[in-house]
Amino acid sequence: MTTVSPAHASPTITPIRKICCIGAGYVGGPTMAMIAKQCPDIEVRVVDINATRIAQWNSDTLPIYEPGLHEIVMESRGRNLHFTCEVDSAIAEADMIFISVNTPTKDFGVGAGRAANLEFIEKCARKIADVSTGHKIVVEKSTLPVRTAEAVKAILSGSSSGATFDVLSNPEFLAEGTAVEDLLSPDRVLIGGESEAAIGALVDVYAHWVPRERLLTTNLWSSELSKLTANAFLAQRVSSINSISALCEATEADVDEVAMAIGTDSRIGPKFLKSSVGFGGSCFQKDILNLVYLCEYFGLPEVAEYWEQVVKMNDYQKRRFVNRIVRTLFNTVSDKKIAIWGFAFKKDTNDTRESAAIYVCRDLLREKAKLSIYDPQVTADQIKKDLQDVLRNGDAELSEASARLIAENVEVVDSVEAACCNAHAIAVLTEWDEFGKVDFPAIYRSMQKPAFVFDGRNVLKSLPLDEYGFVYQGIGFRR
Ligand code: UDX
Ligand code: ADP
Repeated sequence: MTTVSPAHASPTITPIRKICCIGAGYVGGPTMAMIAKQCPDIEVRVVDINATRIAQWNSDTLPIYEPGLHEIVMESRGRNLHFTCEVDSAIAEADMIFISVNTPTKDFGVGAGRAANLEFIEKCARKIADVSTGHKIVVEKSTLPVRTAEAVKAILSGSSSGATFDVLSNPEFLAEGTAVEDLLSPDRVLIGGESEAAIGALVDVYAHWVPRERLLTTNLWSSELSKLTANAFLAQRVSSINSISALCEATEADVDEVAMAIGTDSRIGPKFLKSSVGFGGSCFQKDILNLVYLCEYFGLPEVAEYWEQVVKMNDYQKRRFVNRIVRTLFNTVSDKKIAIWGFAFKKDTNDTRESAAIYVCRDLLREKAKLSIYDPQVTADQIKKDLQDVLRNGDAELSEASARLIAENVEVVDSVEAACCNAHAIAVLTEWDEFGKVDFPAIYRSMQKPAFVFDGRNVLKSLPLDEYGFVYQGIGFRR
């Protein structure tokens, strides 16, 4: 086990009364809302440099859609939960500061396409060093490469005010769509650090509602690495079952039956074996690429290659889905209307980061399909922005041809019915519950014939779609 030295020696730590969280995003917002709800004795201030986002957190329409979140924000907001842009004073007055900013994959310079961009983390550390006095506990909440705390500590120890710091790693394991449930009843809370007193202070915060036996403590580096590893293992399961889905389609096995059969083995377990059009979200791909980069950096190319395959398999699954659509639609989708059901990376969220839908739509657009997109929570602006970004492909400007393609071939509509009218095919890309409840005979009548359904989530599999007249294809089985 590695021993690490504190940024400065920590003085006596009193119970936490004031928390500041830097970053009001998908992690910072819900996590702090839960802490404020469960700890009425602690004042929680969530700060962000994005004034629009803060205004949304202070409004009736929160910036993120998450079942149950509205209620817990309303319960504490204005009492002991505050959203503000006043970063400096919130840091200065806090006993404990959570860093919960984004760490996207670098798209420039050394490590481009793999390493995490730690610019925002570093800026936070510098800001904390600048405005702090006395003693602070700094908590890394964002997912970070292992050994980031070393850099954070080095920056903090440059504080000219004589402030002292303890640095803890407390990665967040919540999944979007179930964030409130995950925060309310986590499988575990992981706290890594070097100072018993600082660890104890954070343990006491969570102990307001999480049973003590679920509060795990480790050294800093184990905690940082566990978060990357957990996401890598989860993504690996999805890629593993997706790889088998391709074999199922070739052999007439059924991937859901295979998943059920292997999942009943208690050593394997049933979760994260749902074959799909591919995993998305802000974490899986980013964290695996980061793991790959770290392995290469530490001279472990075989380990890097092993994990990179998880991402490659995911890309293959998305490509395979589009190829199957094109092949089935008589080898051309040019000028054909395709209804896209769902754009979020999973149900019950409005988040589209790395959503499989972005890549499926891009590839269908390159085939000159006409897309009519419906998602119950994602805005038209977000969908257009995502398509512009993916077609821009790293270039500063969107080419004229790409801009025209989006303008002429993409419409965002407000119902599945509108998306399907005169369409040649439906592509289900997000597993929203409402998709199983639509009037399929009416949808069928409104479509071109033959009317195809490509179910990228296997959510319509149990419905008698063939009886209604549809040609139905899902992932990992043949009918
Ligand atoms: C993930 C981790 O689960 C969470 O612990 C971590 O804190 C952040 O990253 P999230 O990305 O929000 O959470 O959602 P998750 O439920 O893990 O789903 C990720 C992607 O995998 C989604 O696109 C989902 O549709 C897909 N998936 C998941 C499958 O395709 N099949 C499955 O069986 C499970
Ligand atoms: P996550 O999913 O990890 O929560 P998000 O992108 O949803 O990521 O949220 C991260 C938030 O952090 C954004 O709202 C962004 O504006 C904010 N942020 C980034 N850098 C800083 C900073 N230096 N100070 C304050 N907020 C920041």
